[in-house]
Amino acid sequence: MNMNKTTKKLIKVAKPFVDEEEVQAVREVLLSGQYVSGAKVREFEEKFAEYIGVKHAVAVNSGTAALHVALASIGIGPGDEVIVPPLTFFSTVSVVLHQNAIPVFADIDPESFCLDPKDVEDKITENTKAIIPVHLFGNAAEMDELLKIARKYDIKVIEDCAQAHGTEYKGKKVGSIGNAGCFSFYATKHMTTGEGGMITTNNEDLAEKARIIRNHGMTGRDKHIVLGYNYRMSEINAAIGLVQLKKLEKLNQKRIENSIYLLNEIKKRGINWLRVPEIKSYIRHTFFWCPVVVVEEELGMSTPELVKKLREYGVEVRYRYREPLYKQKVLLDLSPYPRGCPFKCAKRSIDYRKIYLPIAEKLAGRIIGLPNHPGLSKEDLDYVIDMIEKVGGKT
Ligand SMILES: Cc1ncc(COP(=O)(O)O)c(C=O)c1O
Repeated sequence: MNMNKTTKKLIKVAKPFVDEEEVQAVREVLLSGQYVSGAKVREFEEKFAEYIGVKHAVAVNSGTAALHVALASIGIGPGDEVIVPPLTFFSTVSVVLHQNAIPVFADIDPESFCLDPKDVEDKITENTKAIIPVHLFGNAAEMDELLKIARKYDIKVIEDCAQAHGTEYKGKKVGSIGNAGCFSFYATKHMTTGEGGMITTNNEDLAEKARIIRNHGMTGRDKHIVLGYNYRMSEINAAIGLVQLKKLEKLNQKRIENSIYLLNEIKKRGINWLRVPEIKSYIRHTFFWCPVVVVEEELGMSTPELVKKLREYGVEVRYRYREPLYKQKVLLDLSPYPRGCPFKCAKRSIDYRKIYLPIAEKLAGRIIGLPNHPGLSKEDLDYVIDMIEKVGGKT
């Protein structure tokens, strides 16, 4: 481990919270001999649906699979355009390409880092079929505005909730607001199944399609009615998920307390080279990240330098989404599939080289996530702030 020079301490930015209960749950499944399509997956789906406040939940083997199945279930296909944010994990975009459709980027709000509804509306064309708002870092996108736009233009909303288990928007859990919600249970998320994902929806037809698509497009033995995938969640993962789900609220509460403590200390101590984003009063932010914006001009140091220095002083931070996603080579080259698909079937030409979204450009590479996981003590959090002050001082 790369320890710091002075105290040999390293505050990790994230870690999974697993104990004997998960180990026992896995042991039971392994000894039962039933590894797929059994009672654990069904129970996990029921309990997760109840937690989110929806009628249906469909378990799959990753958050990416959840997004892919959701898009396939609402019928996204060649020539369709789907509006996505430029700062997110690439899955939000790759699933659109997997459906042979066209990702269209809209800018983000500078405080929430989620889609800016005004820019979303500007990007709508007659080919737009869906919007994927990402509830980034545990915050919530402006769902009322987005739903209003979706109704006006008759398009679907698939919420990317991969970073927002338990986040609430005006009293409703994200994943219960749009046509479907998609969750990830990757190792570092609010709760984990190792790898895993879930689609949540109130729409019975959509849930039924999703169940078929995740299982080879099958409705019975040797009956393949649509193009599907092997995206099933195993009983082993579901057993872990059931235990993790019971712990989720407690873990979230600690994550929220830790984050609010850190953000308040930054303000209290006058560390002005870190900008604390404003959180809307009607949102329950669950802080997958505890995000702050580095004001490089005031700090007099680049963000990568800061990240390196903090690490030397024993503080690991998250540092992702360094460039807007429309700058990824696979998009610039228009080459996700051979022979120009899906761009050759697009109804209008698109050139990602010409895209410039000012807020995303300004923020990309300048947001860091402070260590806020539920295992941190007040002493750890104070150490994080002390080291931030030591590295960058006050301005
Ligand atoms: C916003 C977002 N969407 C989608 C995904 C994909 O989830 P998974 O890694 O489970 O495939 C992630 C995972 O990191 C994510 O953060």
